This record gives sequence, C-alpha cells and structure tokens, in this order.
Amino acid sequence: MPSANFDMAGFPELKNDLYLRTARGESTERAPVWCMRQAGRYLPEFRAIRVENEFFKVCRSPELATEVTVQPLRRYNGLLDAAIIFSDILVIPQAMGMEVQMIPGKGPHFPDPLRQPEDMTRLTDKQDGFSVDKELDYVYKAITNTRHVLAGQVPLLGFVGAPWTLMAYMIEGGGSKTFAFAKTWLFKHTKKTHELLSRIADVAAEFLIGQVRAGAQAVQVFESWAGELGPKDFSEFSLPYLARIAARVKSKYPDVPMTVFAKGAHYALEQLATETLYDVVSLDWTIDPVSARHRIDDALKTKGMSSRTVVLQGNLDPTVLFGDEEAIRSRTDAMCQAFGAKGHIANLGHGMMPSHDPELLRVFLETVHQSSKTLRE
Ligand code: CP3
Repeated sequence: MPSANFDMAGFPELKNDLYLRTARGESTERAPVWCMRQAGRYLPEFRAIRVENEFFKVCRSPELATEVTVQPLRRYNGLLDAAIIFSDILVIPQAMGMEVQMIPGKGPHFPDPLRQPEDMTRLTDKQDGFSVDKELDYVYKAITNTRHVLAGQVPLLGFVGAPWTLMAYMIEGGGSKTFAFAKTWLFKHTKKTHELLSRIADVAAEFLIGQVRAGAQAVQVFESWAGELGPKDFSEFSLPYLARIAARVKSKYPDVPMTVFAKGAHYALEQLATETLYDVVSLDWTIDPVSARHRIDDALKTKGMSSRTVVLQGNLDPTVLFGDEEAIRSRTDAMCQAFGAKGHIANLGHGMMPSHDPELLRVFLETVHQSSKTLRE
C-alpha cells in the first residue's frame, strides 16, 4: 500500500492539480499557467549548466535534465502550474539512427540529412533489435527522477515532435526558409513521404506511452512547422498522423490529457477539435481566442459532438515580453479576458527566447494569476 503522501504509482502526491483539472474540462478557480521553453537560455542558471555541458548531454543525464526542468519552478516559486521535462523533439530522429548536433547560435544541424527516399534505409526503426523504449530510456529515467524531485509541486508534462515537423528536420538537416527539400518529398515522393511520416508517428506514439509509464502526467505534441503547410496539405500530411498519435496514446491511457500545438495552422482548428482526440488545442498568437472558441464550439455542435470539451491553451505573443511591465500587464489581462472564465491554460503563443528578461516573465505569470482569478469572481 502506498503511504498517504504517495500516489498509487509510488510518486509523491500531487499538490497542485489545477493544470490537470483544467485540461479535463473542469471549471477552476483560475487559469493554470506555464510556458513553452520555460527551461532555457533566458535563465542565467540554465546558461551556467550549459557552460560545462553540451546540450544533448543535459538531455541524456537524468540528474542534469531534472535540474534544468525544476529551475523555473524554483525561480518562480508558486507561479507555474506545470513542469515540462527537459529534452528536445529531435531525440526521435536520433533514436531512429540520425546524428543531430546543436550548434550554438545556429540551432540543430544534421550532418547527413535524408535527401533521397533511398536514404530511409539508414533509419534504424525497422531493424532487428530496435526498441523505442531502449533508445529513449534516458528520457524515461529523467521523467521518473523529475517526478520524485518535484515532490508533487506541479504535474510533469512529457512531449514529442509531430511527424511532419520531424520529417522536415530530417530532410532539411536543420531550420529552413523555403523547406525546398522537404516539400520536394511531399510533392515528388508522396508515397515515400507517407511511409516516413507513418514510421515517425509509430515511434512518437510509443515514446509518449513510455513517457506516461515513466511518470508524465500529461503530454504535448509539437507540430511547430504546421504553418508551412496549407490547409489541403495539412489535412494530408499532418492531421492523420497527429490523430493517430492521440488515438494510440488514448487507447492506452484515456485519462492522460493530451495537447496539440500546430503552430500556424489557424485554418485547422475545426479539424483538430473534431477529427482528433486531443483534450487541449494550443494556439499561437496570430489567432484571436474569441473566434477560436466560437469556431471550435460551432464545429463540435454541427457534428453532434457537443459533449466533447476542447480546452484552449495560449497565446500571448512571446515578443510582448520585450515590452515594459505595463504593456505586458495589459496584453496579458486582455488575453485572459478573450479566453474567458473556463477552459483556458495560459501560455505564450510560442516559446521563451534567449534574450527574454526572466523578471518580465514573472510579470506575465503574476498577471495571469490575478486576471484569471478576477474573471471567475
Ligand atoms: O522548457 C521546455 O519547453 C522544455 C524543453 C524543450 C526544448 N526544446 C529545449 C531546448 C522543448 C519542449 C523543446 C521542443 C522543441 N525543440 C521544438 C518544439 C517547440 C518549438 O519551439 O516550436 C523544436 C522545433 C525544437 C528543435 C530545436 N531545439 C531548435 C529549433 C533549437 C534551437 C533553438 C535556438 O533558439 O537556438 C533547439 C535547442 C533547444 N531545445 C534549446 C532548449 C533550451 C536551446 C539550446 C541550447 O541550450 O543551446
């Protein structure tokens, strides 16, 4: 029998379940808040760790990954309502046999990207003895360790990159302006594209299931480059794989909240709400929360799905944090009002940036606490 201070899985009992209750569609006393990339280079304590430790070394060391995961929790004592495990979406291409380097000031770099469909033979996911759980066990260890160190302060989120975004990295070899190489696959090697997306989706689903088994209490799927696809291509190359990942994870863990962040896919809100099982749809800052709410609720109603609740997450423009305190307060207050008194997880519309001032993030967090509480009174 677990003792009173531990849950059934043997982890410290959760003290702040605001994020989980909101993600499940319950009314709450205020909006929970966390930030994408809340652990990262804008924090001097993170940069201090990075001086001595290469990026993927931090990801691969459970102790270091735990330490940087809890850094923002420590700094913003009581202001954050979730932690997200420190890792990267590119651990999946690595697990599939690709080399990925993180180049300071430049970002991710793949020395040998997949340029031709024949290059897929280099991927290891179909090889004898390949196991997602074995390749990515270091992430599971980091999650389990972090759950213990968090001591139930807030829930711990796991995550993966979505198939289209990962495929684009694997083919481009890094960031891109035109996505010429990846788009060539889409429109010239369409069958092989679906094969690759399907393989990545299978690995991603298994990896998320493993993360939940290791202790992740909710998960998020990042389709960071959704906006590079138009509505038609999103429907063909992104949506089915996002849906498959959610269906697989939900069939195993129906009660674990799942979030999808398809950055730039403003046109796909209705599909994400009615054609997938995600509990939460995360919005970037280009979408007006009032219209997003209306569009999603109308779509659910039209399809006779009114019993399904879709919670929204987001969506302050991260560059508002380059403004002064007054601008941050007024924009954040307006954001909370636009999302309304229910079904909102406050966040930025994308991640924190290295040049952000940590004290100005505090202004955002404090304002969410105040404004969202006032809204519910
Ligand atoms: O705090 C958190 O959000 C958890 C950790 C996290 C990181 N990356 C750490 C990281 C998460 C959730 C990610 C996801 C991720 N990684 C995404 C999806 C979210 C998004 O931003 O759209 C993407 C596209 C990546 C790929 C990636 N990793 C890029 C493009 C970069 C370079 C970024 C840059 O500004 O140079 C990374 C590196 C990375 N991942 C850093 C961090 C803290 C900074 C690298 C460093 O410490 O040198």
